[in-house]
Amino acid sequence: MVRRRYLLISDIHSNEEALSAVLRAVARKKYDSVLCLGDLVGYGGSPNQVIRRIQKIKNLKIVRGNHDKAVIDSSLMANFNNSAKVAVKWTISTLTKENLNYLKKLSKGPMEIEKGLIVCHGSPIDEDYYLFSEFDAYQAFESFNFDVCFFGHTHYPCMFSLTEKGVVFSHLRGNYYEETLKKGVRYLINPGSVGQPRDRNPQSSFAEYYPETRKFVFRRIDYDIEKAKRKILKENLPESLANRLEIGS
Ligand SMILES: [Fe+2]
Repeated sequence: MVRRRYLLISDIHSNEEALSAVLRAVARKKYDSVLCLGDLVGYGGSPNQVIRRIQKIKNLKIVRGNHDKAVIDSSLMANFNNSAKVAVKWTISTLTKENLNYLKKLSKGPMEIEKGLIVCHGSPIDEDYYLFSEFDAYQAFESFNFDVCFFGHTHYPCMFSLTEKGVVFSHLRGNYYEETLKKGVRYLINPGSVGQPRDRNPQSSFAEYYPETRKFVFRRIDYDIEKAKRKILKENLPESLANRLEIGS
């Protein structure tokens, strides 16, 4: 039996070194689709390189993130912190016309991948919403009809499951975690961030999903953080954007 296989990547944030490491780690595998949950750009020093790499991925399904949108319409960065604003302005000045056009065409989530499986950036209710709490998850479960939803935006790898007893939260820890998702239980899962992890683990984060068997695999890998930092500093982007990569915050 041929089993479908999806690769899940999110929040790359112009970090070419992290994206390259993830793509290298999975290079021998074939995916029916690569599902990208938004925020290709912002924060990091390689926006054009990341967009070019992403465009080369076959069977890519992608939704836009808030940083992708802010680069297209800078009025949307009003509530960004100062270093994020500086990075958006620099990204606008650096992106080629073609790559800006690519970001313009990205779709708004949620996007249905197959029956019962959706992806989005923030939450299925609102692409810009930070889904952190059990209550946020409960509202999303109530508002949308899905079995499994993969989301990004918070850069925090975690899983919310809705059972008869209510919503259960778990932080996805370690370098490798595997779980067969239970039938009859609904899930909201964040595979973490490829390019700017924020759970105090600086390793790049991504996941795989096999819908037939409901197997979910979460992975962390090392990448060349020093090189990613050097690019940020070379472009005179805020030092804090380089330093946070090292501590994963
Ligand atoms: Fe992000």
